[in-house]
Amino acid sequence: MDDIICSCNHITKGDIVNAIQQKGYTTVEEIQDALDAGTVCGSCVDEIEEILKSVK
Ligand code: FES
Repeated sequence: MDDIICSCNHITKGDIVNAIQQKGYTTVEEIQDALDAGTVCGSCVDEIEEILKSVK
């Protein structure tokens, strides 16, 4: 859970999982708006999608 998913913004897997579980986000766009993850180089977007699928 401490794995860095978005190195541009220092967002960990745990940060993203918590946001999904607590706020009910279902799309990458919502994660981008809420956490700024995936908004710089975009290379982590696929990983964010995988997390979204795995957490539901
Ligand atoms: S690693 Fe997430 S935007 Fe660059």
